[in-house]
Amino acid sequence: MITYLAENKTFYLENERVTYAFDLFEGKPSHLYFGQKVHHDTLSHLRVTAATSCEAYIVGNRMSHNHVSHEVPVYGQGEYREPMITYETETGDLIAELEYASHRVIPQTKYAGMPFTFGGETLEVTLTDAINGVDVILSYTLFDDVDAVTRTCRIENKGPHTVRLSRAFSFSFDLYGTDYDVISLHGCWANERKIQRTPVHRGVYSIDSKRVSSSASLNPFLAVVDRTATETQGRVWGVNLVYPSSFRLFVEGTQNGRTRVGGGINDFCFSWKLEGGETFQTPEVVLAFSNEGIGGMSRVFHDTYRKHLINPAQVGMSRPLVVNNWEATYFNFDKERLCAIIDASAGLGIDTFVLDDGWFGKRDDDHSGLGDWFVNAKKLVGGLKPIIDHCHEKGMKFGLWFEPEMVNPDSDLYRAHPDWAIHCPGHTPTEARNQYVLDITRPEVRDYIVKVVSDILDNHEIDYVKWDFNRNITEMFSVSLPADRQREFAHRYALGLYDLCERLIFGHPNVFFEGCSSGGARFDPAMLYYFAQSWTSDDTDAVMRTRIQYGTSLCYPLSSQSCHVSVCPNHQTGRITPISARADIAHLGATGYELEVSRMSDEERNDIPRQVSDYRKMENLVLHGDFYRLISPFDNRAFAVELVAKDKSEAHVTYMQILREFHCESVALRLQGLDPDALYRLEGTDETWHGSTLMEVGILTPIHTMRDFHTQTYHFKKV
Ligand code: DGJ
Repeated sequence: MITYLAENKTFYLENERVTYAFDLFEGKPSHLYFGQKVHHDTLSHLRVTAATSCEAYIVGNRMSHNHVSHEVPVYGQGEYREPMITYETETGDLIAELEYASHRVIPQTKYAGMPFTFGGETLEVTLTDAINGVDVILSYTLFDDVDAVTRTCRIENKGPHTVRLSRAFSFSFDLYGTDYDVISLHGCWANERKIQRTPVHRGVYSIDSKRVSSSASLNPFLAVVDRTATETQGRVWGVNLVYPSSFRLFVEGTQNGRTRVGGGINDFCFSWKLEGGETFQTPEVVLAFSNEGIGGMSRVFHDTYRKHLINPAQVGMSRPLVVNNWEATYFNFDKERLCAIIDASAGLGIDTFVLDDGWFGKRDDDHSGLGDWFVNAKKLVGGLKPIIDHCHEKGMKFGLWFEPEMVNPDSDLYRAHPDWAIHCPGHTPTEARNQYVLDITRPEVRDYIVKVVSDILDNHEIDYVKWDFNRNITEMFSVSLPADRQREFAHRYALGLYDLCERLIFGHPNVFFEGCSSGGARFDPAMLYYFAQSWTSDDTDAVMRTRIQYGTSLCYPLSSQSCHVSVCPNHQTGRITPISARADIAHLGATGYELEVSRMSDEERNDIPRQVSDYRKMENLVLHGDFYRLISPFDNRAFAVELVAKDKSEAHVTYMQILREFHCESVALRLQGLDPDALYRLEGTDETWHGSTLMEVGILTPIHTMRDFHTQTYHFKKV
C-alpha cells in the first residue's frame, strides 16, 4: 500500500513486512526509513536540526543540505556527499534545485524497450528544477508479496535548451549509522561471484564495470548488512541493478554518521545530451530488505525475480534437460559424432541436444566465422536439418548456439562491413578471443542480426537457443555518433541489446533462450528478464561449482542457474570427482550434461536415468522453493544447502565433504525453514523427525573415510 499523510508530509510504501518512508522537507523528498514495517508515526525525529558552524545552510533554515538524507541528492547548495543526478545546461554550472511538484499512485507501467519488474504499485513523484527547465520523475514500486521496493527515475528536459546529463543514477538512500558491512560479488572467467565483505568506512566504497557488460569482475549487486549479520540473523539491505552494461554502485560513510547507498549507470565516460522535450529513463534498481540475515535477503531476491521479473511463461516451467556438445567435442565434430551423442543420450531422460559453437561459417576454431550465421556445409553435410530430424526421431529437442553481438575479422560479415565492428578511427582495434563486438547501437546492424538469426530460427525446428557473449568492449566509440554523443555509447549498447532481445527472444516465444557470457559474465537481472536461465560458469568442476553457485545464489534464484555434469578429469581444474557428486551439485540449478555421452563408461552412462529421475523429483523445489545456505564452501571443508517447498511439505539437502580431514569432526547440520510441528520422513528410510528436531538438533553429516568431494543428499517429506 502507498500512503501519503498530509499532516506530516510523509509517504509510506509498505506491505505486511516492510516500510519505505520519506517526507517532504523544505520542498524536497527526504529519506526517513527503509526496513521492517513500522507504524505511521512521524519519522523525522532523527533528522539533525541544525547545521554545524561553517556548513552552508538551507535558505531560511539553520540546517544544511549536507545533513539531510535527500531521496535525490544533487550538487550545488551545500550537499557534498555523492549526488544521484548531475546535469548542466548552456550556462555550464552543475547547480540543480529540484523541488517537489506533484505525486500520483498508479499501477506499475512497462517502459517500452527496457527490462523492468512488473506487477506492483508505483508512486511517482515529480520534482521540478524551474531554473534549468528539468523535471525528475521518481518512481517507487512496491509489491504485496515480496519485501522489495524498486526505484527508477525519468529525467525530462522541459525547456528549449540542451541539457547534458553527466550522472543519472537510479537511486540513493541513507541509513542511520555507519556500523555496517558491505557484501559484494567479485570474480573472473571460470570463477565468478566470490563473496567479499568489508566494513563501511568514512568515504566511498564503490564497485563498478567499465566493460559495457555487467561482467564477471564485479556483479551489479551489493548488500549493506548489520556488522553482526549472519546467514540467519541481522538486518540486510540488498541492492541489485537491472542493467547489463557499465554500472557503479557505492556505499558512503558520511560525516554526519549516515551510510549513503546509491548507484546506477556508471558515470565514468557517461554523458547524455537531452534536447528540449526529450526524456532519459534510468535503469531500475531492486532494493530488498530482510531482518533474517543474508539468507533472508536472498529469498527476497529469488521471490522477486520469480514473481516479478522473469518471463512468466518460462519461469516455472520444467526446464529442458540438455546435453551440450561444447566440452564433449569443442569445434571438432561432424554429423556422425553429434548423432552418436544424440543416440547415446536418447532414452536416458536427457530431452534436448544443444549444438554449441562451430556449426556456422568457416569456424573450425575461434579465429574465424563469427557473424556468418550460415551452416558450415563442410562440417555438417546436408546442413542442420538432418541433425534436427535425428534429434526429433529420437524424441529429443534441438538447441543451437549463437553469439549474435560478435564478428571475427576473418568472416564474410567483417569483409563486407568492417565499419560495423566497434572501433575508433586512428586506433588499432583490440582483439579478444580473436573477435570484435558489433556496434549494436546502430539500427542497421541490429536489423542484420535479427534477420540472419531469425532466418535460421524460422527455417528450422529449433527449440532452444544459447546466446553467448565472449568479450568486453574496448575502444568504446561508434562511428555513427557525433563527438558530443560518444559518451552515450555504453548505455546505447544496453538499449541496442534490449532491442535485439525483444525482437529475437520475444519474437520467438516458442524457443527457450539461455543466456551465456564466457560462462557467467553477464549474469544480472536485466538478462534475467529476457533469459529465464543463464550458463553460470565455464568452470564445471563440482568443487568450484559449489562456490560459484553459492555466491550466485546471493541474489539469483537456483532456477536461473544453468549447471551441467561434465567429464573428469575436469577440463578447467583437472580434478576428478565422483559422477554422483557432479550430478548432485548440477542438480542445484537447471541441470544438464556437457560431455560425450557416447564415450562414457557403461557404469557412468547407466547412472544417468537415476540422476535424471532424482532431479525431476526435486525440480519443483529448484523452480519454486525457498533456498537456505547451510555451510559455506569457501574454506574447502564442506558445503551444504537446502531447498524447502513453499508449503513446507518437503525439503532437499545437498551436502559435500570437500577435503576430508584426518579425524575430522562430523557436523550437526541444522535445517531451516521447516514446519516445526510437522513430522518429516527421510526418503528411502523409515526414519522420521519433527521439523523442530531437524532445525534445532539437526542431522549428522557423514564422515566419508578417505573420500574427498563426496556428496550426500537428503530428501524429507512431510508424513
Ligand atoms: C563460452 C561458453 O561459456 C561456453 O559454454 C561455450 O559456449 C563457448 N563460449 C563456445 O565458444
